[in-house]
Amino acid sequence: MTIWIDGTYRNAEQATVSVFDHGLLYGDGLFEGIRIYRGRVFKLADHIRRLFDGAKALLLEPPMDQAALCKLVEEVAAKDGAAESYIRLLLTRGKGPLGIDPFTCPKPSLIIIVDTIRLYPQEFYEQGVPLIISSVRRNAVDSIDPRIKSLNYLNNVLARIEAKRGGAQEAVMLDHAGHVAECTGDNIFIVKQGVIAYPASHHGALEGITRSVVIGLANKLKLPIKETTLSSYDLYTADEVFLTGTGAELVPVASIDGRAPGNGKPGPVFQQLLTAFHDALANPEFFL
Ligand SMILES: Cc1ncc(COP(=O)(O)O)c(C=O)c1O
Repeated sequence: MTIWIDGTYRNAEQATVSVFDHGLLYGDGLFEGIRIYRGRVFKLADHIRRLFDGAKALLLEPPMDQAALCKLVEEVAAKDGAAESYIRLLLTRGKGPLGIDPFTCPKPSLIIIVDTIRLYPQEFYEQGVPLIISSVRRNAVDSIDPRIKSLNYLNNVLARIEAKRGGAQEAVMLDHAGHVAECTGDNIFIVKQGVIAYPASHHGALEGITRSVVIGLANKLKLPIKETTLSSYDLYTADEVFLTGTGAELVPVASIDGRAPGNGKPGPVFQQLLTAFHDALANPEFFL
């Protein structure tokens, strides 16, 4: 594990932040989760671009430009040296007085943690993850747009609590009109009669880096794929359902509110995409 905070490497015991950081006090900040495969940082420029888009939306000025931040993340990852790991990058509003006003915080804080992560037990990768549809609606795009990967994940936390208490592992979140948005830490896809479909971001989905990788792979494999509007019915009646995310990677879905897609086993389209994803990791150009 390697931890870098505002210019200094720290061990886990010393890796602390101020109680006056507005990231802690108000969830005022952003984060990225980034994978390292085979010693290479995966899609780093895309993650940094998304972080900067979020920063612009929050009027939060990163302490360096995108190129410098990419270089810094590469440096911290190289110092850690692990071939397979996960980077958590945080940009917080920084220290300020107790009031909410972000303009009282003179200096944002930057944190880079290189560690490992496992979102779901191994059996879910083989048999599929059980989902419920949560009663907790995704934040509306006119409140906290879910495209902002902010440090405030309470909306997702509440949905995950509902899933776990209901005996499932993960929750699908709908938007206020009842359309499918995404899960608490992953994007969602369905396959129906050979066509892959996923919810448009305006329904409250993060513009996932893994989602765009999967879209690219589907195009390369000439599998029909479309961005659309989906309802619970589309999930219940799909031939296949699967999730994507940096932490989760590609995960098949075993059931949604007790309805198993297809024959209840990971489907052929999912398998094809998973194989293509693993094959592509051998190609350094796939990482850019
Ligand atoms: C709410 C949410 N949706 C989707 C994703 C997947 O995005 P990505 O593939 O960029 O990790 C994540 C993970 O970062 C997430 O937290």
